[in-house]
Amino acid sequence: MADGHDERLVQTQDMFWESDVFRYSGICIQRGEDLIRKISRWGVLLTGFLFAVVLAGTSECWALQPGDPVNGKVIFGEYCSACHGMNGDGKGPAAPAAHEPPANFTDPDFWKGKTDAFLIHVIRRGFNGMPPYWDVMSKQDILDVYSYVKTFRKS
Ligand code: HEC
Repeated sequence: MADGHDERLVQTQDMFWESDVFRYSGICIQRGEDLIRKISRWGVLLTGFLFAVVLAGTSECWALQPGDPVNGKVIFGEYCSACHGMNGDGKGPAAPAAHEPPANFTDPDFWKGKTDAFLIHVIRRGFNGMPPYWDVMSKQDILDVYSYVKTFRKS
C-alpha cells in the first residue's frame, strides 16, 4: 500500500469516481454519450449536440462497486477468454488474429500506472484491438467482469 500506484487506486475508489475529473473523463456521461453516438451515426450532429447538453444533466456516474467475480468469471469465459485466455495471460485461441497483442493480466507490469477507472473505460469503449462492450453488456456485468480480471493480478 506504500507505493504510489496503490495510493492512486485508493484515491480512485474514494474520490475519483465522485470528482469533476471523473465527471469530465467521459466515463460518467454514460447514457448521454452512448445516445449521442447512436444519433450522430445518423448524421444529425446538431440534434446530437442539443441532446448532449440536455443529457449531460441527467447522466449517471458509476459508483465503483466491488463487482461479483463469480458472475465475472462466467462473462470472461463467454466474451474475453478467446483473446485474453481463460487464465488471463493474453494467449487465448483468437489472440493471434487480434490487431494488437491482447493484454496479459498476470504480468505485474501490466497493472503499473493504470487506474480502475481507466481500465473500466477501456472495457466499455474498446482500445486498439480491444472491442467495446458498452452496448453488449450491462454496467453491472462490466463491473463484475472487471472484478474477475483483477483476480489475475499477482502484485
Ligand atoms: C478480439 C480480442 C479481444 C477480446 C474478445 C477482448 N479483448 Fe481485451 N484486449 C484486446 C487487445 C488486443 C488488447 C490490447 C489493446 C492495446 O493495448 O493496444 C486488450 C486490452 C484489454 C485491457 C487493457 C487495456 C489497456 O489499456 O491496457 C483490458 C482491461 C481488457 N482488454 C479487458 C477485456 C475484457 C474484460 C474483455 C471481455 C469483456 C475483453 N478484454 C475482450 C483484445 C480483446
